Amino acid sequence: MSDIKIDHAKKIYNGQTVIEDLNLHVADGALFTLLGPSGCGKTTLLRMIAGFNSIEAGDFYFAGKRINEMEPSKRNIGMVFQNYAIFPHLTVRDNVAFGLKQKKVSKTELEQETNKYLKLMQIDSYRDRKPDQLSGGQQQRVALARALAVHPDVLLMDEPLSNLDAKLRVDMRQAIREIQHEVGITTIYVTHDQEEAMAISDQIAVMNHGKIQQVGRPKELYHRPSNVFVATFIGRTNILSAELVHKGGKAYLKFSDSYLLAFPDLDHEIDQKVCVSIRPEEFVRSPDGPIEAEIIDSLYLGLNTEYYMDIPFAKKVQVCEESSFKEDFKPGDHVRLSINADKINVFTLDGTRNLLGGEVHEV
Ligand SMILES: Nc1ncnc2c1ncn2[C@@H]1O[C@H](COP(=O)(O)OP(=O)(O)O)[C@@H](O)[C@H]1O
Ligand SMILES: [Mg+2]
Repeated sequence: MSDIKIDHAKKIYNGQTVIEDLNLHVADGALFTLLGPSGCGKTTLLRMIAGFNSIEAGDFYFAGKRINEMEPSKRNIGMVFQNYAIFPHLTVRDNVAFGLKQKKVSKTELEQETNKYLKLMQIDSYRDRKPDQLSGGQQQRVALARALAVHPDVLLMDEPLSNLDAKLRVDMRQAIREIQHEVGITTIYVTHDQEEAMAISDQIAVMNHGKIQQVGRPKELYHRPSNVFVATFIGRTNILSAELVHKGGKAYLKFSDSYLLAFPDLDHEIDQKVCVSIRPEEFVRSPDGPIEAEIIDSLYLGLNTEYYMDIPFAKKVQVCEESSFKEDFKPGDHVRLSINADKINVFTLDGTRNLLGGEVHEV
């Protein structure tokens, strides 16, 4: 087992800087996710950790030991990729036993450990099959069992569920979470899918353009995003422009039609133009709500119904509420809304800083 520390990492491909100066700490035993849009540098960073990429600057440590110059094969890492990368000519059992054979462990240990991970990953009953007789999900289970069987210090997973269909992805992410907790291995999990990241992770680092935007628990990122990028990338939100003004020492958010929302948390801040993030569920329908809204469209999703509404200071805001069997709104209907001020976030006009906090953890 091992914690992972990265200090001032830099990556350049053919004169192009992809990662400028990245710091990260992954606690021992954590399931830590790198989440970000395609091309932001997740795989690049993972390959630097694994030793498959050159490192232009910075230091990488496993359990306090610097590993920059260590051979990939000496780093004691298990890896699982998007494409299953298990050996097609070997049975499930031989795939799982592969790493152990290479390590030249005793026959008894080989049998024991292979059986243990076949059972743990629930692929024991397919042990004599070849990979082409397995579904995608089963193949990923084999890949994970093979990676874990050699007792790596660190497990790296790069979009392991991307090739699976939606239902299986949900089942598999639960399986990965359970196994990771059971084995307790320090894991870095890469995905571009924010819902998957939220569901699976102890901690998430949100990345964009080679930079860590924020590190936090899923809940922290959702409720206190440190900038507009994180607010919009994690979950859905409405970003509205407003002005922070003070009257008699009390702070208000003034939206463009001059609607004023008392906002005591920012009493101490100076007057300025701001970006306000209001999640769809923080627009609350109530008969005496101060905001008049017109329904433009609605999507019934079973548990919830999502609406697009025009309000005096913004077009087509997303509003989400629990579905009601009795009420049925049509486009053109008018309703009244209030904003749940406790739950919204207020950013500087350029979107780079949350005036309410939302730390950018740099280690
Ligand atoms: N071997 C490479 N040579 C040159 N550029 C690369 C190479 N691998 C990745 N890149 C570039 O680095 C950036 C980050 O890529 P990558 O780490 O694959 O992103 P992600 O995994 O987040 O989708 C992209 O702009 C990509 O085009
Ligand atoms: Mg990638």
